[in-house]
Amino acid sequence: MSANADAVKLFRHGLADLPAVQSTLVAVYAEVYADQLAIPFHSVERFEKRLAGHASRPGWEAVVGYVDGEPVGYAYASPLPQGTRWWAGMLNPLPEEDRAEDGARTLALFELMVRHPWRGTGVAQRIHEELLTGRPEERVTLLVEPTHVKVKALYERWGYEDIGDQRPFPDAPVYATMLRTLRA
Ligand SMILES: CC(C)(COP(=O)(O)OP(=O)(O)OC[C@H]1O[C@@H](n2cnc3c(N)ncnc32)[C@H](O)[C@@H]1OP(=O)(O)O)[C@@H](O)C(=O)NCCC(=O)NCCS
Repeated sequence: MSANADAVKLFRHGLADLPAVQSTLVAVYAEVYADQLAIPFHSVERFEKRLAGHASRPGWEAVVGYVDGEPVGYAYASPLPQGTRWWAGMLNPLPEEDRAEDGARTLALFELMVRHPWRGTGVAQRIHEELLTGRPEERVTLLVEPTHVKVKALYERWGYEDIGDQRPFPDAPVYATMLRTLRA
């Protein structure tokens, strides 16, 4: 495969497509995170469990980029449900009005990854923007490790703001919580 970004075609997958795309999502994850799979939180097994949880929510969608049928990267997201624990791990709690969720207010972007040959080609941003296109939510949130300063800077260039650190699970790293307004 050559890293011809213009050849990348984007496909949007809803919940009904999950059985067909699941092995692709897992395989790309295992390649992109190959050097971290020994860490329990980053293991393939835990990724599969997280994916199953995220994809059990209505409104889950993935955008996958392909060249000649080969996946080059993807992003997936689903809306935060009422009673979500997404905001509960904030080290400095947000005001109540900022953490109220009704299942339609906030899209959570859970994964974005691109295989090495397509890094720095603009494909990641295309995948990301395609995923947000047409979404009905008013805002989108994601978590990024604050030590990954260049990735965080990328998200800031894409319109996200850092609204504070959180630890989503007891054995998870501390993440910066990023928020971008989609519509007023
Ligand atoms: C995040 C990602 C999709 C962005 O793709 P992109 O827009 O093409 O941007 P790049 O890959 O060129 O990354 C931008 C910079 O961040 C750095 N970077 C990327 N992923 C990183 C990571 N996981 N940790 C630390 N730095 C990282 C890159 O080295 C690059 O630095 P450089 O400009 O000095 O070369 C892609 O880098 C990726 O798949 N990374 C691995 C998975 C990941 O970390 N996803 C984000 C989770 S929040």
